[in-house]
Amino acid sequence: MLQEMFDKIDADADLTKDEISYLLTLEKEDELEQLYQRADQVRKRYVGEEVHLRGLIELSNYCRKNCLYCGIRRDNRAIPRYRMDVEEVLETVALAEGLGYRTVVLQSGEDLHYTADILVSMVRQVKQQSDVAVTLSIGERPRHVYEKLFEAGADRYLMRFETSNPDLYKRLHPDSRYEERMAILTWLKEMGYQVGSGVMVGVPGQTFDDLAQDILTFKEMDLDMVGVGPYICHEATPLAGSPNGTVEMTLKVVALTRIVTRDTNIPATTALATLRPLDGREKALQVGANVVMPNVTPVKYRALYELYPDKICIGDAAEQCQGCITGRIMSIGRPISQDYGHSFKRNTAK
Ligand code: 5AD
Ligand code: SF4
Ligand code: FES
Repeated sequence: MLQEMFDKIDADADLTKDEISYLLTLEKEDELEQLYQRADQVRKRYVGEEVHLRGLIELSNYCRKNCLYCGIRRDNRAIPRYRMDVEEVLETVALAEGLGYRTVVLQSGEDLHYTADILVSMVRQVKQQSDVAVTLSIGERPRHVYEKLFEAGADRYLMRFETSNPDLYKRLHPDSRYEERMAILTWLKEMGYQVGSGVMVGVPGQTFDDLAQDILTFKEMDLDMVGVGPYICHEATPLAGSPNGTVEMTLKVVALTRIVTRDTNIPATTALATLRPLDGREKALQVGANVVMPNVTPVKYRALYELYPDKICIGDAAEQCQGCITGRIMSIGRPISQDYGHSFKRNTAK
């Protein structure tokens, strides 16, 4: 039965939900090894050897939402809040460009201090000043705001749907609606954005079937990018005391995401590196991932963007992360892309 599934993967045939679910339960070393080798081959065949770097700028840790798992949720009064102004963002983008990054990811909690006008002006100035692709990851906004930001030059948008199980989604997100989130992701694609989404692995209440459905959903949505990282319990949230997701399960999800979605951009996530600082990202890059997102946020803010505890790099300047990441990628024999690293699903940026 397992051999049949491996043969299907080798023949580039589509796996069923039950098959994906079964493959997620593999635990024997030799069987996992066979799965991982196949994921690595699919990665090579569809997106090549190059690893794309994205400079991550954490703009603000203010958030109007209260997602149960998240350390910067509105009700966490224990963390000081910060917000970068446009001037500081522009300086940080210039630094990222100087380090050779051809994409910047502007990420924040849902911070309405950044009005549509401020965001438009930010994106315009970034595109004027620097030769970089701009990815936004700032949560849910009215449709017209996404339109304006695309016109201003934003290339990509990241927003995880977190789980494809509507009941679980509801339990985790007291102030978001599953249908709304999925509708936004559809609009973004229609507007011309390259769209990234993804899920957390091991969030309390999640089943193998949920994860299998998540992976099929990545494919159905025709996503350009898919980020999956382990859930990491934050003690200042309602989920305090719950177990973390595991490195092993996350790697299986990365591998199957590659096998099922084939030509997407898949990051080796910071959350995975947090659970396995020594070689978590290298492992992910060897089982399907092809992107890394080094942090370029000014060091004084790093510790405050605490989605989960013990996040790596909180004391490391952008230059250090660049050196660290470059070394890690070279150590596994992979070349670093000098290009924007646009979606493989289209030929030109816009
Ligand atoms: N553990 C792991 N990932 C988390 N995120 C938020 N909180 C946590 C946590 N406790 C992830 C969510 C969100 C992304 C920006 O960070 O998936 O979409
Ligand atoms: Fe806010 Fe995002 Fe955290 Fe939810 S996951 S509380 S929207 S920053
Ligand atoms: Fe920041 Fe390694 S990526 S120190």
